[in-house]
Amino acid sequence: MKHLIVVAHPAKDSFTMGLARSYAAELERLGHSQQTYDLYRMGFDPVLPARELWPVDADHPVSTDVAQAQDAIRAADVLTLIYPLWWLSMPAMMKGYIDRVFARGFAYESHDGNVRGLLGGKKAVLITISGAPLPLLVKSGNWNAVQVLQDTHILRAAGFELMEHLHFDQVAPQLAKEIVEQHMARVRSCARQHFPGN
Ligand SMILES: Cc1cc2nc3c(=O)[nH]c(=O)nc-3n(C[C@H](O)[C@H](O)[C@H](O)COP(=O)(O)O)c2cc1C
Repeated sequence: MKHLIVVAHPAKDSFTMGLARSYAAELERLGHSQQTYDLYRMGFDPVLPARELWPVDADHPVSTDVAQAQDAIRAADVLTLIYPLWWLSMPAMMKGYIDRVFARGFAYESHDGNVRGLLGGKKAVLITISGAPLPLLVKSGNWNAVQVLQDTHILRAAGFELMEHLHFDQVAPQLAKEIVEQHMARVRSCARQHFPGN
């Protein structure tokens, strides 16, 4: 299968980037092909300009970076998004990727307020990281907010079959090495479980 991994974290040596590398390496080991969109390192521009608000036509062609990003999704069987929860949401970099790339006419169409996803037939995996313990997020209702907004409103609404939302909680800067290793093993296991060898 063809996998597109889109990851947003400013630090190359972060836990989040480590997860993305482990997941990508496991997919390749299983015989899949993968392309990683490392949004910070590629200098992706997350700011949606006015010209992208209009329907695509001769006067408003799709921007080159957006066209390339959309082609990468078209070519993929599976899209995996990886990011830390910042203010319970995604980093602005990832939000800007969604704003620009999941554009009307590509990811969805909308008539009279009814949204129809256009990316049906593709699978998605969502991998998030938080500082807070998951039980606390669940108890406060915050986890429900995360799921409604990110799992359902973005990925499922665009038509993806969400295979798993894998979450790593209580991730802090000085995480013990054994815990980091356990988490890396967990992300590799996620790849094996859903996408056994080609
Ligand atoms: C700007 C910012 C906002 C954050 N907001 C939250 C939050 O709302 N809930 C939470 O549990 N953790 C929050 N965190 C903590 C991060 O989720 C956590 O530190 C990060 O996922 C650890 O992964 P990393 O080492 O790859 O950065 C926030 C961190 C930053 C920098």
